[in-house]
Amino acid sequence: MAPGLLRQMRVRFLDMADEYAGRLGERREHIDLKRDHSLRVYALATKIVAGERLAPSRLYLAAALLHDIGRFSQFERFGTYRDDESVDHGDEGADFLRGSDFLEAFAASEKDCIVNAVRQHNKRVLPADLDPLTRSVCELVRDADKLDIVPVVLSKMMADGPRDPVVTLGLVDAPEAWTESMVDVVASGRSPAYNELCYVNDFKLLLASWGPKLVHGTSRRIFAGRGYLDRLFDLLPRSGRFAELKVRLADQLDR
Ligand SMILES: [Fe+2]
Repeated sequence: MAPGLLRQMRVRFLDMADEYAGRLGERREHIDLKRDHSLRVYALATKIVAGERLAPSRLYLAAALLHDIGRFSQFERFGTYRDDESVDHGDEGADFLRGSDFLEAFAASEKDCIVNAVRQHNKRVLPADLDPLTRSVCELVRDADKLDIVPVVLSKMMADGPRDPVVTLGLVDAPEAWTESMVDVVASGRSPAYNELCYVNDFKLLLASWGPKLVHGTSRRIFAGRGYLDRLFDLLPRSGRFAELKVRLADQLDR
């Protein structure tokens, strides 16, 4: 597929976002948010694909651009981005792409791969039986997605004024409070589940834990180079445990 076709897909994606935004009137900012996130994930994917020499790049880039396409109808239908209160947005996007001609320029097997990667991009654990190419596409999308979520949350956490509970997940914002067991979980190389979090500080630990778990070296270098670890730990209380944990995570980022 020529790069021109990816460009056309981008135009079509933007037109679709515009249609939804137009129908939503003053609530259009919610659609714009996901449109802009998708474009940044696409840009990040371009860097990782180049750094890791992943091929065929068109599959990776199409999946990155379209991974959140289900967000538009999710928001229009339910007025929320909470999957647990509406639909699974990965499934929503995959079902849409499966039934539309959005991916008609791809061979059937390539379309299957992209649709599956969109379906799986938000699942906590990837199915064991994913074929290797779909797994690779999915891992790329998940890396790029995480790399964009961290700065979005960071900017909201650093902003003055009341916290946006949608971004901080309605967690308790007590500046000096955190859950000690979360430090143990992250130190052991795991990521806590969202439903284990209690405080906003626990959420910062979760975001920090993502860095070393990024699959690709290029992704980990972007995480390190953009200073996400420093910025997250700067927002945590001063404590020897956190200082120790930061050094450990920085080492693992370097692997
Ligand atoms: Fe998503």
